[in-house]
Amino acid sequence: SRIAVLISGTGTNLQAIIDHCRDGSVEGRPSIVLVVSNKPAVEGLARAARAGIATRVVDHRQYGSRAEFEEQLQGLLREFDVHLVCLAGFMRVLSPAFVWQWNGRMLNIHPSLLPAFKGQHAQHQALAAGVCVTGCSVHFVTEEVDAGAIVGQKAVPVEPGDTEESLTERIKQAEHLLYPACVDLVARGQVVLSPDGRVHRT
Ligand code: GRF
Repeated sequence: SRIAVLISGTGTNLQAIIDHCRDGSVEGRPSIVLVVSNKPAVEGLARAARAGIATRVVDHRQYGSRAEFEEQLQGLLREFDVHLVCLAGFMRVLSPAFVWQWNGRMLNIHPSLLPAFKGQHAQHQALAAGVCVTGCSVHFVTEEVDAGAIVGQKAVPVEPGDTEESLTERIKQAEHLLYPACVDLVARGQVVLSPDGRVHRT
């Protein structure tokens, strides 16, 4: 399966997916054919380049409208014959029209156990709520932000004295295990999004 990863920053999740796809012991592994960043010169682009993966920058500030930005993005995904899109720290909200075109073929990772703590600063929300357990979720992308069907989740403890930074770091460790595993399942068609919007295991 041909995967594109969309990023805006450091790309540690991208790195985890790169490492998974490169692992020779994984039979029929998916392959990352394209990494797109909406921000130039981020660390994630360097990670992709080091792995020999094609990279493109689609800088949203250079487009007059979201439609034009997304048209550029869509053109690239078509050009590289992408089957599955993985958002990995991609900080732009995509329009319902764009999301709909990738229905069942676009994943995101979010740093909480959804449906808790949707939106930005999920780790801060978890600390503010005083929960003892949070985590991360991989889900299909639907037009409502952080609300699509859940493919997988991993729980992470909140430790006494945690700061947003220390909790973010602990959650990332879990993300790096969870995301490649979920990408693999969806890329192989072992998990699909049903027409009723639920996840179906084949
Ligand atoms: C992750 O915490 C992910 O859950 C959130 O953005 C962060 C991306 O981190 N959506 P990285 O760029 O993969 O290191």
